[in-house]
Amino acid sequence: MVAPDGPKSRFVTNAWWILTGVAAFVCIVVIALAVGAMLFRRRPKRVDTEGGQRQVVVFGLLIPAVVLAATFALSVTGIAVNANPPSPDRVTVDVIGHQWWWGVKYPDAGVVTANEIHVPTGEPVRLRLTTGDVIHSFWVPQIMPKMDLIPNRPNTTWFSVDRSGVYRGQCAEYCGLEHAHMAFEVIAQPRAEFEKWLHREQQTAATPSTAEQQRGLSVFESSSCATCHTIRGTTAHGHVGPDLTHVGSRDKLAAGTIPNTFGNMAGWVANSQAIKPGNKMPPQSLSPDDLRAVVTYLQSLE
Ligand code: CUA
Repeated sequence: MVAPDGPKSRFVTNAWWILTGVAAFVCIVVIALAVGAMLFRRRPKRVDTEGGQRQVVVFGLLIPAVVLAATFALSVTGIAVNANPPSPDRVTVDVIGHQWWWGVKYPDAGVVTANEIHVPTGEPVRLRLTTGDVIHSFWVPQIMPKMDLIPNRPNTTWFSVDRSGVYRGQCAEYCGLEHAHMAFEVIAQPRAEFEKWLHREQQTAATPSTAEQQRGLSVFESSSCATCHTIRGTTAHGHVGPDLTHVGSRDKLAAGTIPNTFGNMAGWVANSQAIKPGNKMPPQSLSPDDLRAVVTYLQSLE
């Protein structure tokens, strides 16, 4: 949060430093006065009530009023700065919260993916947030402050990223057992690379090119996998879990929980409950050969 890489987070970080500085200064002054009063107290000859009242008015009312008004103005400025992008946006991303993963759609390009948000570097991106179940909160500390995903109330905002790179995002509203394992990645890349990625995501799934991959596709289509997941270009059209059309190209599995490797994916398919207890995917009782074929096929979907 204190290493911002976008205009929205930079404002928040600056405001945070200012508020922390002001609060620390006030705290130190109050403690110093209290300690001073204890160390250097003198018994007054007479009680000076008038001077005491003036001190109460100045230190108890006037100074706090000025400090609080200034910090309030800073907060209100933050709301205004964060409300509208500095220039028109060309990319819209819909994010749908689920227990416990993120659906990601690019409505203009017709792209559906999950847990990974690719954006062009340095451009404002329109973000539309909704949820398929309970309240979640979208937070990318280095890029933008939190915004909630609320049932039946789409929230629209924007963000932009200064530098190309991978930024970790995290659900920031307790949403059930695997709230902590509800992460995602924002991947900022130059416009040309972003468009290449978008174009590839638009394609239907790669056709199996080996016998092993072909077997994997058959197992996928004929098992319970297909009732929950979609692989565009096959008969799998489930909508309970993430779209897997290009799952092989993703960096992580299970909403940022484990790296997307062959072994991790095999472990996930065989018994995801051991990795992320409580998630909605039941263990799959596949034979070792079927399991290997399915994972080989899924890893080939780039
Ligand atoms: Cu979703 Cu916490």
